[in-house]
Amino acid sequence: MIQIAIDGPSGAGKSSIAKAVAAKLGIVYVDTGALYRTVGYYVRGKGIARTDAEGTIACLPDIKIEVRYENGAQHVYLNGEDLGDRIREPEISMYASAVSAVPAVRAFLLDTQRDIAAKSSVIMDGRDIGTVILPNADVKIFMTASNEARAARRTKELLAKGIDANYEDVLREMIERDTNDRNRAVAPAVAAPDAIYLDNSLMSIEENVQAVLDIIYEKTGVTV
Ligand code: DC
Repeated sequence: MIQIAIDGPSGAGKSSIAKAVAAKLGIVYVDTGALYRTVGYYVRGKGIARTDAEGTIACLPDIKIEVRYENGAQHVYLNGEDLGDRIREPEISMYASAVSAVPAVRAFLLDTQRDIAAKSSVIMDGRDIGTVILPNADVKIFMTASNEARAARRTKELLAKGIDANYEDVLREMIERDTNDRNRAVAPAVAAPDAIYLDNSLMSIEENVQAVLDIIYEKTGVTV
């Protein structure tokens, strides 16, 4: 069994790269942001302000989250319902970032993440995988890129999903979200001391996938 942790800010391409690496190595890709998005989706649906930590905590007993893998793809079920791309809306991104700063929400989602890694070899992406969720991961990578490169990619990704987006708004919200995620008191989105830093601003997807595979090979001897 192998554990690969990929952390970094939003729009750094963690999910596309981790998904491709998972397919090449035949291991499970875990998108942990989807869990925080699912909690954010529920809280917003209840009409609770995203800054209302007490209101958010009061929701937790009514939330049941299940992660299932169907044809190799991760599906997150909220109280039995697969929300699909509804959790990708920009407003849900802001809710996800806000609820993720609440320690009770992080505690609520901890076992779900560790249970998946206990059952299968994984490449897991998020903000605190190398620092909190899988501190003994075999490989830890902190992936990032310039603000401009990340915002441009995120805008393209949203438009491809049919979600209304423009570069300026995406850039502004991305910076706000990163600032929240990096400066929160619990599990801030920072690199683990033993993480390898990978700036992919100037890399193609293929080069980025190869760079990650090279790091995995160097650290573990595992190869495609
Ligand atoms: O990776 P993402 O953009 O889908 O994540 C949405 C938000 O969830 C992000 O702004 C911060 C939070 N998050 C987190 O705090 N810890 C994680 N492991 C993953 C996401």
